[in-house]
Amino acid sequence: MRIPDEQKEALIASARAAGEKAYAPYSDYQVGAALLFDDGAVITGSNVENASYGLSLCAETNAVAKAMNEGRRGGLVAVAVTGPLNKGDGAPITPCGRCRQMLNEIAQLGNTDPIIFCVGKNEVRSVPLSELLPHAFGPAHLNPS
Ligand code: THU
Repeated sequence: MRIPDEQKEALIASARAAGEKAYAPYSDYQVGAALLFDDGAVITGSNVENASYGLSLCAETNAVAKAMNEGRRGGLVAVAVTGPLNKGDGAPITPCGRCRQMLNEIAQLGNTDPIIFCVGKNEVRSVPLSELLPHAFGPAHLNPS
């Protein structure tokens, strides 16, 4: 599904705004995620770290949990992910492995292959989730339809 440029920019802005609410005192690396659904709804998340470092939760994971807590089970068409612009090499930020799996769950429930807008300092890389997580394990393996 092609997302119009205007909607893409708005989604990226939502992810950025979410990133500002991140609780990331340990890494000082604020991430924002915005999920776009087929009814136009946008659900955001940011990373929430913990003094027990390994318990920290990523932005995309929190956004998926939020969406599923609101009853969403599919309909995911696009995702924007943003990180700090003044950290690292400026390359587009791609979801970590666990977040790819989290995104895959809600995507597969609705049979969509959402486009992931990975935002960098000078470019936005648009990658379908199926390319980030090929041959994914998902709900269909457990519950064949
Ligand atoms: N982080 C995310 O929120 N999403 C990702 O996909 C990559 C990493 C967070 C986790 C941690 O709070 C901080 O970024 C540094 O790794």
